[in-house]
Parts: sequence; structure tokens; C-alpha cells
Amino acid sequence: MSKVTVVGAGNVGATCANVLAFNEVADEVVMLDIKEGISEGKAMDMMQTAQLLGFDTRLVGCTNDYAKTANSDVCVITSGIPRKPGMTREELLGVNAGIVKGVAENLLKYSPNAIIVCISNPMDTMTYLALKALKLPKNRVIGMGGALDSSRFKYFLSQALGCNANEVDGFVIGGHGDTTMIPMARFATYKGMPVTNFLSAEKLDEVVKSTMVGGATLTGLLGTSAWYAPGAAGAFVVESIIHDQKKMIPCSVLLEGEYGEKDICIGVPVILGKNGIEKIVELDLNADEKAKFKASAESVRGNVNALKDLKLV
Ligand code: 2OP
Repeated sequence: MSKVTVVGAGNVGATCANVLAFNEVADEVVMLDIKEGISEGKAMDMMQTAQLLGFDTRLVGCTNDYAKTANSDVCVITSGIPRKPGMTREELLGVNAGIVKGVAENLLKYSPNAIIVCISNPMDTMTYLALKALKLPKNRVIGMGGALDSSRFKYFLSQALGCNANEVDGFVIGGHGDTTMIPMARFATYKGMPVTNFLSAEKLDEVVKSTMVGGATLTGLLGTSAWYAPGAAGAFVVESIIHDQKKMIPCSVLLEGEYGEKDICIGVPVILGKNGIEKIVELDLNADEKAKFKASAESVRGNVNALKDLKLV
């Protein structure tokens, strides 16, 4: 029997649980929230779609009862406050760090072998915090940011090309921040051909810029952080792990010399399977991409240093 826990039944957590159930990624999905009744209500509401949508996954909601999460294969952490318009993800650090640390420790008590997927922002820093707080091997703590940013990149590419997003390929590395993510335009393809064959440099630059502020644009429109794509991106990462799909997905992982960096979690392509991170894929970056990655890593390191100043790691 496969089991996934999603902590935080807000917009992102509930969407993630809903996608996991609808796609029958696991036999059981537990949602846990600190707000009385929210998880129970959302789980019951979703279960009442089972017959309509034709899925067999069992959804369970609970209020802060970690015993119900016992023996999960994967635990997803979405807890914390979301962005308000105009806020950066980094501004959430102080509040969310304490929350994420407590949640991670509680989860591990009941699911000592679980793989942890972090969604809470600032995502790279929360991934690092969970990894250090839980003292787990690096393959078991994964930040989902790159999966989301890559999906947004493909969306903006498809808009520019006038095609379906499933016809383009592309990925984003670096930090999950408006100024730190690096959409890899050089590697993006449309039906296997470089997108540079179809889009002008100016158009491609627009796509890159829209991708980088993709989350902020939605926060402006919605008045809070986006949830459909963030929730689905979390479920996409979980599926590759639970079903041992070995997909290559950009995720935030601890680097120990790869890409010339160490002691930070940042987005790079990884192979995700039943052991979590099964391989870090090292790309041959050109000088411009290397410089961007270094700047991104410096920015992410600034947040890690803030965690250290707060004595959280
Ligand atoms: C986003 O980019 C919530 O960080 C997430 O929308």
C-alpha cells in the first residue's frame, strides 16, 4: 500500500492532494492542517468526487494528528504563510522557517523512512532547513520549485509559439525566486527542434522574463500565491518518486560540489525515483549560464546564512 501525506490543506496543499487522488498516485492520501476541520472537510469534499471522477484513492483529513500520517512513503510540506502582492518569497523566511522545522520533525517521528518534498517558501531555503533539521541523507529531501518554474516556462513558450504546452520542452534551474531562476532557453525545444529556430531573441527574452515573474504575476492577479500549478507540480514530483518513474525534473537539492557549489539547496535537473533523488544531472553550462547560476547560488546562500543567524540550522 502506498501512502502520501500532505501537510497544509490550504490552496496549494489541497490542490496537491486532489491531483494525487485524481491521478491515483497513491492508495491513501492524508491531509493534515492545524485549522480545526479544514482537512477533514476538504478530504470529505474530495472523496465525494471519487465516483464522479472515477478514482479509488482514499483521502483522509486530520487536524494536527500526526499519528494518522504514520508510515507515509512521501510527505509533502506546504505549511506556512503565502505571499501577498508585492512580497518576495524571501520575506516569508522568518515566519515559515519555524513552522516548517516543526512540521518536518513531527512527520519524521511517524514516518521515519519517508521522502520529504518541500513546497513552502522560500522553497530552496525551506528544503535546506528540512534537510538539516532532520539530518537525512540528501536523496530524501527535495524542493519542488524547478518543476513548477519549468511548467510555467513551457506555458509561456507555448503561448509565444501558438502551440500546446505538451509540444514544447524546456526547464528552469537555479533558485525559486523572481530574480534567481534561470529558464534555460538554449535547451528549449519545439517538437525536438531548438525554439531559437522559431522565436526571435527578443521574443525568447520576453518568455524568459515572464517565466521569472510568473509567480508574482499570479499573486498580483489573485491577491495571494497561485495554487493550481504549485499543487500539481508537487504531485508531479511525488508521482515520479512513488511510481519509480525516474523522470528528470529540476528540483531543489543539496549540492556538494556539483555545479561548483556546496552547502545550499538549489534547483538542478535530477532523476527522481523510489529512492528520491537518484542522480544529479550535471549540464555543460556555457559562460553566461555559469555566471547566472553563480549569482543565483549567492542569493540562495544569503537566505541560508539568515537561517544560520536565526540559529535554525
Ligand atoms: C509560486 O511560484 C507559490 O512559489 C509559488 O507560485
